[in-house]
Amino acid sequence: MCGIVGYVGSKQAYPILIDGLQRLEYRGYDSAGVALLHNNEINLYKKEGKVAALEAEANGKNLQGNVGIGHTRWATHGEPCDKNAHPHLSHSGKIAMIHNGIIENYAQIKTELTNKGYQFKSDTDSEVLVNFIEDIKINNQCSLEEAIRVALKRVTGAYVILLIDPELPDTIIAARKGSPLVIGVGDQEHFLGSDASPMLAYTKDVVYINDHEMAIVRPGELILKNYGNEPLTPFVQRLDLDLAAIEKGGFEHFMLKEIFEQPQTIFDSFRGRLDAEQHRITLSGLDAIQDRLLAARRIIIVACGTSWHAGLLAEYLIEELCRINVEVEYASEFRYRNPIVGPEDVIIAVSQSGETADTLVALENAKQQGATIFGVVNVVGSSIARMADAGAYTHAGPEIGVASTKAFTAQVIVLQLFALKLALLKGTISNDRFSKLVEGLHAVPSQVEWILTNELENIKAIAAKYKDASDFLYLGRGYNFPIALEGALKLKEISYIHAEGYPAAEMKHGPIALVDETLPVVFVATKDPYYDKIISNMQEIKARKGRLIAVVSEGDEVGATLAEDVMVVPEVDEIIAPLLSVIPLQLLSYYIGIERGVDVDKPRNLAKSVTVE
Ligand code: F6R
Repeated sequence: MCGIVGYVGSKQAYPILIDGLQRLEYRGYDSAGVALLHNNEINLYKKEGKVAALEAEANGKNLQGNVGIGHTRWATHGEPCDKNAHPHLSHSGKIAMIHNGIIENYAQIKTELTNKGYQFKSDTDSEVLVNFIEDIKINNQCSLEEAIRVALKRVTGAYVILLIDPELPDTIIAARKGSPLVIGVGDQEHFLGSDASPMLAYTKDVVYINDHEMAIVRPGELILKNYGNEPLTPFVQRLDLDLAAIEKGGFEHFMLKEIFEQPQTIFDSFRGRLDAEQHRITLSGLDAIQDRLLAARRIIIVACGTSWHAGLLAEYLIEELCRINVEVEYASEFRYRNPIVGPEDVIIAVSQSGETADTLVALENAKQQGATIFGVVNVVGSSIARMADAGAYTHAGPEIGVASTKAFTAQVIVLQLFALKLALLKGTISNDRFSKLVEGLHAVPSQVEWILTNELENIKAIAAKYKDASDFLYLGRGYNFPIALEGALKLKEISYIHAEGYPAAEMKHGPIALVDETLPVVFVATKDPYYDKIISNMQEIKARKGRLIAVVSEGDEVGATLAEDVMVVPEVDEIIAPLLSVIPLQLLSYYIGIERGVDVDKPRNLAKSVTVE
C-alpha cells in the first residue's frame, strides 16, 4: 500500500525513480510524485493519477539530480488529488518526505503544530509528520537524523519514511516500523524500495530493514542504527530473482501472464518437496515444528482476501486428512476480538505479500500469547516470513497483477502438501490414499496447461456473452465452495460487477430470491461426492430461469446439458479439484474485465499489498 523508491549515487535519479515507481504501481496508483536534490535545492513534482500522469507533469522541467525519492500513493488520509500526493515538504520547504503507512496520532500532533502557527497544504498525516520533524530539528537545534529519532518516539502507527534535505546533499534518511523497506547495494550507489523490484535491474544485493531501524544512505555508505542511535550491521543478502520475472513477457497484462504461468508456478511450489515416484513429501518448515503440530490443540489459519480463501480450503483439508480442529480467521477480526490463543495453538499465516498489516499484527499478538507461527508466504524476506517460527515459501515468483491468481494456486499446493505430510505423521491417512494424492498433485501442472489450451476461446466467448450482467452468483459445495468465493471476488475486483459466492445449498436460505432470467449463476460443479447434490441445486436455479454457467468435469454430460454454458476441467480427486476449477474462473473474470474496459492489472481503489489496517 503506497510504493516508495529512493536513489543515491552518480546516475541521474529521475529515470531510476520513474522506472521504480512503475514497478511499484501495484501497491497504489492514486497519485505519484518525486523530489530531486540538485544544487542544494529540492525540485518536487507530483500529480494525481498514475505514474504516467506524473511523467507528463514533470516533462520539460528540471529533472537533474543524483539523489531523489519517489512515491506512488494509495490514499488513506485525504482524497486522491495533487495536494495530497507525496512527497510532502516541510514548512520551510527544506525537507521533503515520502511516507507509506498511517500516523495514528497525527491529529493530536497537528493540533500542537497548528497552535504554534503551522499551516498545512494537504489533508495528509504525512505532511504533519514532516513538519513535526522539522519543528523538533529547529527547537532542539539538532541534526535531521536526531529530529527523526525524537519524532518517531512520539508517533504511533505504521510507516516507512524517506527524507531528503539540501543540508545533507548526498543523503537519504529512512526509517521503518510496520511497512516494508529494502535497500539495494550497488557500486557507490544505493537504491531504496518497498520491495526489491525497483532495484533488480541494477543490483541483486539487498538489505531488508527491520522495524525500529533507521538507515542513513549515501552513495558509498549505508549506516544502519536502531532508534537508540546504536549502530547495527547491515545484513546483505543476494536475491535469487530475475528481471524477466517482473516483466510482462509478451502478455497484454500481468494478470494474464500470471494465469498462464500457473503450470510452472504450481510445479515450482512442489519442486523438491513432492516425490511422485517414492511417494514422499518433504517440507522442512513443517519438520521444524513437528512436535508442536502433533501436540497442537488446534490450528488457526489467519489471512485476508484471496489468501483467506486458500485458508478456508486448508481448513477442510486439514480437518479431513489430519483430524485436527482448524479455525479460519479474517486477520482484521482476529487481531481485535480478543481470541483465546495459547501455546497449544499453531497459527498458519497465509499471505502472498507477507506484509499485510492486519495479518502481521494478528500474528504478533498470537506469538506474544505463546502460539507457534507457520508462514505460507510468497515474498521471500517479507515481514511475515521473518517473524514466523517456521514456514514454507510458496515460490510463485513475483505477482504484480493486483488480483491474485498464481499466488493463490501456489498457496493451495503448499497447504495441500502440509496437510498430506501432517496426516502421514499423525497416521490419519492410509498409504494408498497418500500415494494417490501425491501422484494426483504431480499431474496438476499438465492439467492446468490442458485447461489453458482447450478452454481459452470458449471462456472468452462466455465472457463476451455475460459482460453486461450487473450481478453474478457463484455457488459451490465442499472443496469447491472456497473456489466459488474466490471466483466471485475475482470478478468483483476486475470487472466491477457485483458478485457473491455462496455454499450452493445455502443459497436457498436467501440469495435464491435474486434469481431471475437476468442473473448469471456460476456453479463449480466438478465430479466429487457432492456431485448429485449440486446437480439438484442447478435444477433449482434452472427452475427459476437463472442463467446457468458451470465448471464441469470432462465427460460430464448431465452438468453440461443442464447449464447454458460450461467450462470444462479434467476430472480429478475432490481434494485436488480446486486447483483446476479456479483456473476457468480466473480467465472468466479477466476476459469480462477486458470486455468492460477495466485496467485489470490496476483496478480502481485496490492495492496489492495492504500495509494499513
Ligand atoms: C485479491 C487479493 C487480495 C489479497 C489480500 C491479502 O485478489 O489479492 O484479496 O489476497 O489483500 O494479501 P496477502 O496475501 O498479500 O496477505
